[in-house]
Amino acid sequence: MNIAVIGSGTMGNGIAHVFAQHGFAVALVDISQPALDRALGTIAKNLDRQVTKGTLAETDKTATLGRIRSFTTIAEGVAEAELVVEAATENADLKLQIFRELDQHAPAGALLASNTSSISITKIAAATQRPTQVIGMHFMNPVPVMKLVEVIRGYATSDETTARVMDLSRQLGKTPTEVNDYPGFVANRILMPMINEAIISLFEGVAGVEEIDTVMKLGMAHPMGPLQLADFIGLDVCLAILRVLHEGLGNPKYAPCPLLVNMVMAGRLGAKSGEGFYQYT
Ligand code: CAA
Repeated sequence: MNIAVIGSGTMGNGIAHVFAQHGFAVALVDISQPALDRALGTIAKNLDRQVTKGTLAETDKTATLGRIRSFTTIAEGVAEAELVVEAATENADLKLQIFRELDQHAPAGALLASNTSSISITKIAAATQRPTQVIGMHFMNPVPVMKLVEVIRGYATSDETTARVMDLSRQLGKTPTEVNDYPGFVANRILMPMINEAIISLFEGVAGVEEIDTVMKLGMAHPMGPLQLADFIGLDVCLAILRVLHEGLGNPKYAPCPLLVNMVMAGRLGAKSGEGFYQYT
């Protein structure tokens, strides 16, 4: 089966990795050839981790890489796709533009999925002529490791589209979970208020960064504390999702902490910028 993945950043290359590893032919699309080259390097490196761990044979690594082709235009990349997974930058106007193009160039029967963490699937679907075939497929970072796919049904998503995407997610060794299209879906509706509360606790001087993270890591068995996780996700991404929750649900409890707003304005975006709640050198 042919899959097209739009966007070769952290999420896009992880999604391409897992589809290719499970035998699917993957067309990875990005406007930038250097970004595509970097993504293929990252996939090779992450496959190497699996080989080193003994969870993947060297021949499977070669076969996986052999199933991924890269393209710099949507028209070429989706020409034979049966499922397209969009994982471009989290910007609503950009996603709507991409879905108009996908609708124009993907075969009529193709399903169009978005890996968006918080933009409305119903709104994205309405930009196409095939809203029953549009769905959310929200993978978690790091994609090769995390077992969840949050499958989001837009207002018009059909039962058939949902069933096919649930089944495909299982073929990747993931556990798909069906949710409806409301702000933040389920994952971020629950995760982001926890992260925001951790930042408010820091802002109000309840405890320091390491103390807050230690409480949550050792007290609740979370693999990362909420402040480290915020750095890993990106503070700009956390802020954008909190704004979607705040606006979309109209409840002041979702208002982003002023410290988070300041850090983002100052360019302290977490691991990717070299500094967030922690330093990354
Ligand atoms: N590709 C492949 N394998 C990877 C990997 C990658 N990118 N990153 C880590 N791994 C593997 C490692 O090889 C290792 O494998 P084994 O268990 O077989 O040894 C395993 O994952 C653990 O990695 P490490 O030992 O290097 O490090 P760790 O134990 O500190 O775990 C972590 C790293 C998996 C990231 C862990 O800290 C974790 O689970 N953190 C929380 C992640 C999380 O919450 N993600 C969701 C974020 S929210 C989101 O994505 C959605 C959104 O909309 C914001």
